[in-house]
Amino acid sequence: MKGIILSGGTATRLFPLTATTSKQLLPIYDRQMIFYPLNTLIRAGIRDILLIVAPEHSGQYLNLLGSVFKSRGVHIYFEVQKVPRGLAEAFILGAPFIGRDDVTMVLGDNIFEKDFSDEIRNFEKGGLIFAKKVPDPERYGVVKFDEDNNAVEIVEKPKEWISDYAIPGLYVFDNRAVEAAMTAKPSERGEIEITEIHNYYLKRGELKVSPFDGEWLDAGTFDTLMEAGRIVKEKEIYKNFDPMINDAIFEFNEELKAMAKKRLL
Ligand code: DAU
Repeated sequence: MKGIILSGGTATRLFPLTATTSKQLLPIYDRQMIFYPLNTLIRAGIRDILLIVAPEHSGQYLNLLGSVFKSRGVHIYFEVQKVPRGLAEAFILGAPFIGRDDVTMVLGDNIFEKDFSDEIRNFEKGGLIFAKKVPDPERYGVVKFDEDNNAVEIVEKPKEWISDYAIPGLYVFDNRAVEAAMTAKPSERGEIEITEIHNYYLKRGELKVSPFDGEWLDAGTFDTLMEAGRIVKEKEIYKNFDPMINDAIFEFNEELKAMAKKRLL
């Protein structure tokens, strides 16, 4: 299983914060947001991770994540997405990296309380996505279930209500996701939508949609960014990290302190 973190985009809703850095490098309590999706993948045992970033922030990501994981057996690869052409473009940009493997993609701004390790480790074939009841489904990709809890329809930001179940930014697909992305047509807003990939598997009867418990935070506005930090602290979600990540952060902090000391001498 390969892992992708999609961490590009322009995040105009967070201007001026995102005039100087990437949204996914903004702090959620005591660490950058990017460590949350990284944790989702690393604790599920994924060791090859492609980080897709916007060109203007690539140096910052490289500085933060480029060295401290290598010695821990986690290989982080970097790819630049020049223009945000949609979530599913990740499978096109990432095709050489994915090779013939399966892939789990997590969005750089999605924070989960739940540990999805079992679901990811036990994945065999087709597509596996998740669903959460929300009060504002029109903001998300949405899935409608029938009486037997089978997914029957998936729509990106539906204008007319179809269901209260939003699809969060965590997707587990077999290798056919690459072919599905390459043959998908861009939507009206000019993006290759992730729902095209969901529908590829849904049409073939090979999509599993699994409701889940626990907090799901997508920190895209000033309020949700602040709220995410508060919830993470209150529920101590920041403590539930794979120890490897905490060690890596500690090592990075020590390096920074040593460098700061040298500059002072
Ligand atoms: O958060 C879950 C939702 O994420 C899903 O329910 C939707 O189906 C999915 O389309 C997406 O909706 P958003 O409106 O939140 O997508 P947004 O354009 O904000 O992009 C999500 C993240 O991915 C954001 O951190 C920026 C990054 N991104 C986005 C695009 C379109 C990229 O890195 N490259 C891109 O081309």
